[in-house]
Amino acid sequence: MASSHVFLMLSLCLASSTFAFGGNFYTDFDNLFGDKRVNIQEGGRSMSLTLDKFSGSGIASKNEYLFGRFDMQIKLVPGNSAGTVTAFYLSSPGTTHHDEIDIEFLGNLSGEPYLLSTNIYANGKGDREMQFYLWFDPTMDFHTYSIDWNPQRIIFLVDNIPIRVMHNREDLGVPFPTRQPMRVYSTLWNGDAWATRWGQVKIDWSKAPFIAGYRNFNANACIMRQGASCAGFNGGRNRGLSAATKKKMKEIRSRWLVYDYCRDFRRYSHGLPFECRKKNHRLTFEES
Ligand SMILES: *[C@@H]1O[C@H](CO)[C@@H](O)[C@H](O)[C@H]1NC(C)=O
Repeated sequence: MASSHVFLMLSLCLASSTFAFGGNFYTDFDNLFGDKRVNIQEGGRSMSLTLDKFSGSGIASKNEYLFGRFDMQIKLVPGNSAGTVTAFYLSSPGTTHHDEIDIEFLGNLSGEPYLLSTNIYANGKGDREMQFYLWFDPTMDFHTYSIDWNPQRIIFLVDNIPIRVMHNREDLGVPFPTRQPMRVYSTLWNGDAWATRWGQVKIDWSKAPFIAGYRNFNANACIMRQGASCAGFNGGRNRGLSAATKKKMKEIRSRWLVYDYCRDFRRYSHGLPFECRKKNHRLTFEES
């Protein structure tokens, strides 16, 4: 009895899992906003998003996923991109108990560095920003940005190098997104009210249209279907980070991390968030 139940659970999970290498912008996404500013090319292998005076643009995945690794190659808006925000993120459907895992690129004046901003919302609570400069010019070429989300941890990667990890420490009382599926989004929008250090620089519309390129979307993920379970999903990657990977991440963070909410003593002058306190911090962000 018990074993047939386990078998049923397993087969449901397998039935609901896909290993969708080589995703397609036509078949995997719907247009979210911006009409023809979403421009899918090469039979669905690449896409560009446009922001002009009238609108930005964006796409949302047709599927909802519960855990998976999501890779997107992006070439950011070149030149004066100050005020533009190019995003690649996962977001849960509802507004209550909202979960979200964000990669956002905040544009800058010509010659000034883009800011890669990451954030994690769990059970409605965000404000977990960590921000980085990049070790290359992200407007010259496509680079691969990834979100690896499994029941054990979330890892953000740039060209396969982990830049941020958050382990699931719900056992300590740190909220972590495990209870609901999310869709994948890519958007390009006007963020000049906050993205340029709270609106110090406005978008230069004489440089419009602003265009970002996307290609080679890849999801190695569990697609959520009615009655299915993704509880067993780990994408084969739940073993944690190797010592070498941890070392590499440490190096990258020591050079390129420019903002960490856990170090923002001005913002949290009355005490750091729970997961940022010393012992919790080690268990949530460092150990694997
Ligand atoms: C833009 O460039 C300035 C100057 O180098 C830098 O301080 C800032 O963090 C950059 N990013 C944004 C989003 O303003």
